[in-house]
Amino acid sequence: MTAFLFVTDLDHTFVGDDNALGELQQRLSQQRQEQGAKIVYATGRSLTLYHELKAEKHLIDPDALITAVGTEIYEDDSKDVPDSTWSEKLSQGWNRELAVATAAHYSDLVPQEESEQRPFKASYYLSEEAAVEVVPRLEAQLQERGLDVRLIYSGGKDLDILPRLGNKGLAVEFLRQQWGFDGTRTVVCGDSGNDIGLFSVGESRGIIVGNARPELRQWYDANASDRHYLAQAHCAGGILEGLQHFGFLQ
Ligand code: GLC
Ligand code: MG
Repeated sequence: MTAFLFVTDLDHTFVGDDNALGELQQRLSQQRQEQGAKIVYATGRSLTLYHELKAEKHLIDPDALITAVGTEIYEDDSKDVPDSTWSEKLSQGWNRELAVATAAHYSDLVPQEESEQRPFKASYYLSEEAAVEVVPRLEAQLQERGLDVRLIYSGGKDLDILPRLGNKGLAVEFLRQQWGFDGTRTVVCGDSGNDIGLFSVGESRGIIVGNARPELRQWYDANASDRHYLAQAHCAGGILEGLQHFGFLQ
């Protein structure tokens, strides 16, 4: 077997079933040691909240880390300065102040904690009921103001405003090309709206865990393909199932 690039979201995907996580981490460590597999976490969390989760769940060291919904890439998680080439790409056409000032007109948008406000990400809480009307209105208004942004609604509660290129999938492409992995030897895993980017970019194999949120299931139904596998099992159990389905693990 040849090496593969393993990319996973953390909350409710890699993390969520401690027993299955233990087994998956053991299998992945072995693949990394014996076959040269590489492991990447792609999370919506900031570096600060990532480190909290890593300590709490004893996560193995990744070979690279993508945080803040694809807007920051770290060569390894002991660094605290993100890859500058990626930051430069994202800064084109991005105006955080204007995006935040526009969002401030919407009383349904409640700013998330300070740690989650990042240079290329403005994040809010927004209820599911309000989202139906607020998201398209805000999107249109941001566009009218000349902002080329991407709005991502996840988990029935989080709204992120990001630069157009701020996307987990594009960040993975950046690492994949740098490391020279074939798209067909890349596998991505996720459960919610901010993971759609992982599944829609390139030719990676995709594992959607059994506990996936409605926004990702709807996307899966509308974009059915042999490249994507909807697992029965939840969280790390679903990942193990998907890795076997695609033949990455025996
Ligand atoms: C994580 C981040 C939060 C973001 C959410 C969805 O929970 O901490 O800021 O809104 O992911 O992308
Ligand atoms: Mg998740």
